[in-house]
Amino acid sequence: MLKLVVLISGTGSNLRSLLEASRDAEFPARVVAIGADRDADGLALGEEFGIPTFTVPFTAFPDRDAWGAELIDQVRLWEPDLVILSGLMRLVPPAVVDAFSPALINTHPAYLPEFPGAHGVRDALAAGVDQTGASLIVVDNSVDGGPIIAQERIPVLPGDTESSLHDRIKPVERRLMIQAVLDIANSHLDLKELAR
Ligand code: GAR
Repeated sequence: MLKLVVLISGTGSNLRSLLEASRDAEFPARVVAIGADRDADGLALGEEFGIPTFTVPFTAFPDRDAWGAELIDQVRLWEPDLVILSGLMRLVPPAVVDAFSPALINTHPAYLPEFPGAHGVRDALAAGVDQTGASLIVVDNSVDGGPIIAQERIPVLPGDTESSLHDRIKPVERRLMIQAVLDIANSHLDLKELAR
């Protein structure tokens, strides 16, 4: 059974889909803890699904490295096989990458390397492209530049807003994330090999 720690900043709707998938006894992974860098709405999923939560508030630390050191300690308590950044809206410092990567993956609402960063959906709309996408990557020390695990194109439709487009991207992110968790658990995907 693959043990997952999932880190969030927002509503955790992608996390919810993972929690729902893992309700199936056949699903080969379990979320053992949910962590956040702030008082994220998605932490409520911990209570709903009976999963422990922890918060390492970014603003309570003098700098990114100090925050990262505490994050490492909190995540390690759960001895995860895989750490998933599912809407964690912070760059993690190099020590976090060293501690967990390549078993540290991130879901992103664009077709990387297009539109990296915190505003992948908004930036795609602003660029006027007719297609964007969803990507799942291994986290390294770049900004969303790590090895690509999976990605899929999604059309931008006339009249799309940031919210309508993001609403169509998220189900694809969920599918890619759940499939990757399955593939890792079933040894069909080797993150070490991918990140080599
Ligand atoms: C997701 O679309 C995720 O890809 C994005 O935040 C959203 C979280 O949604 N992450 C990034 O943009 C990271 N750069 P959720 O809280 O509803 O799961």
